[in-house]
Amino acid sequence: MKYLQKRTPEYSDTLKEDKTMDIFVCIGSACHIKGSYAVLNGLQNRVQAAGLEESVILKASFCMGECTRAVCVRVDDGPVQSVSPDTIDEFFNRVIKASGLCPANLQL
Ligand code: FES
Repeated sequence: MKYLQKRTPEYSDTLKEDKTMDIFVCIGSACHIKGSYAVLNGLQNRVQAAGLEESVILKASFCMGECTRAVCVRVDDGPVQSVSPDTIDEFFNRVIKASGLCPANLQL
């Protein structure tokens, strides 16, 4: 998989050459109980509000094997991250906004 030049230190490997990002949200039992549906919907709403439906692809995933970190989210081939319904905005800003995909004047 080819990647663009580094944009941010933490997410330098997340944006593929075709300028898309796949975000997997675990919907396994532990993550479901901790709010995976709310996380998936919250991310979907923010992606739509930012007009990024073509470049940020949200996908449900089976158990990622790190149930104690529920709700588990993975960006492309990156590490599993823990996101809760309360930290959706932080995740969106840190990962999606920082990737450079969002318009510079985006206000959410
Ligand atoms: S149920 Fe989500 S990581 Fe196991």
